[in-house]
Amino acid sequence: TFIGIDLGTSGLRVLLVDEAGKPLGATERHYEMSHPHSGWSEQDPADWIAALDDAVAELRVSCDRFSEIQGIGVAGHMHGATLLDRDGEVLRPCILWNDTRSHEQAARLDATDQVRALSGNIVFPGFTAPKLEWVRENEPEIFDRVAKVLLPAAYLNFYLTGEYVADMSDSAGTSWLDVGNRDWSDKLLEVGHMRRDQMPRLVEGAQAAGDLRAELVQKWGLSGRVTVAGGAGDNAAAACGIGALHEGQGFVSLGTSGVLLSARDGYRPAPETAVHTFCHAVPGRWYQMGVMLSATGSLNWLASMTGAKPSELTAGLHDTLRRPGQTRFLPYLSGERTPHNDAEIRGSLTGLSSDMTRDDLAVAVLEGVAFGLRDSFEALVATNAKLEQLSAIGGGTASRYWLKLIATVLGVPLNLPASGEFGAALGAARLGQVAATGSAPDDIMQAPVIRETIEPDRDLQAAYDDAYRGFRAAYHGIKAVQ
Ligand code: XUL
Repeated sequence: TFIGIDLGTSGLRVLLVDEAGKPLGATERHYEMSHPHSGWSEQDPADWIAALDDAVAELRVSCDRFSEIQGIGVAGHMHGATLLDRDGEVLRPCILWNDTRSHEQAARLDATDQVRALSGNIVFPGFTAPKLEWVRENEPEIFDRVAKVLLPAAYLNFYLTGEYVADMSDSAGTSWLDVGNRDWSDKLLEVGHMRRDQMPRLVEGAQAAGDLRAELVQKWGLSGRVTVAGGAGDNAAAACGIGALHEGQGFVSLGTSGVLLSARDGYRPAPETAVHTFCHAVPGRWYQMGVMLSATGSLNWLASMTGAKPSELTAGLHDTLRRPGQTRFLPYLSGERTPHNDAEIRGSLTGLSSDMTRDDLAVAVLEGVAFGLRDSFEALVATNAKLEQLSAIGGGTASRYWLKLIATVLGVPLNLPASGEFGAALGAARLGQVAATGSAPDDIMQAPVIRETIEPDRDLQAAYDDAYRGFRAAYHGIKAVQ
């Protein structure tokens, strides 16, 4: 058997699968983000380890085939900076992907000669390199003690194997990697005031990173050799989970962030579109994606404002799509990446009226997120990505209304995989399987069984196209008054 660990923004999930990739059991533990200042977002890596230990302890008891584990893969939320001293001790809380404190440092790096050309991407404020520039400028006593910088998934690799090792897909989001050549770039490291010896060793996501430490083998009740794969950033892992390895295969992910991803056979960066171009978790492949920072994050925000649970907010909407409402929600609660690259913009609600209901407000939020995904869709299409069908994964897919809305706003059918809730965890388990058994990635990372396909509502598409144009225009209006 194999386990996939998905270190997510709101919690950590461990999934056990058999040789055919069939889920045998899953456990989950939640933890918090802390926001000590506006735009800041941090987590204590010790919380991830505690969540992992707990989730594993539960899975051991509930699944008897746990003891047969041969391979492990870790998927993690991307870009986070976990800073370690030379003894491997954590120096400060991890600065997360949705933390925008380093937007000035990011703009500076982004404007530096060769940076976009080598990294293939805009240096977004959430990426790792500008975070280290911020630490250098604001916490110099910590910066001086940084012996290693690990992404969240690589930090779990370190816990599992005792080695500093990271995969290409996650490392591509640092702005220190030469994404076309799949190696650390001396030039990018120099520009970011970092050294190669502060970086982990690089492996492909589906390659072995090391063996599970003897202490954990014993503690988890295992025997023999257990291989830990290089792992992946969560989006590359999700692509492995839904079998998106080739041109024309992709997904929309409704997590805390919203992602529209398309697998690519070659490396064709297009930073000017604010699309992300990263290494895939399998060798010789890349992927491109548009990222919006607040997808289910927006619905969770409305939930916290109204005192209702997110599922209660969407429960009253049923399956039949309404015409677009008058209320526009701009989902820029923590700024936006694709297509605006604007860390300072904040969200807005316009077109409120005295007769509106909570359902209307919920619909406005769902629409705002759907339009944000359409922005990413347009950006990806501009890079010649083929997006004729998309899988839909992530927590937000629990709302049928949202799925119908997104299918209509994008004009693309959405496939719901039978085990779509496992996305990144399943992909991580598959990476563990390939690393442990030497199987070909294409044999293991097949498209899963599709439970259902959600078709766009063609009668409402023109109305939603109009509403989308209003959404596009609203950004500039809001920008002018903020
Ligand atoms: C991708 C990104 C997010 C996180 C969320 O660039 O920042 O999707 O990976 O987990």
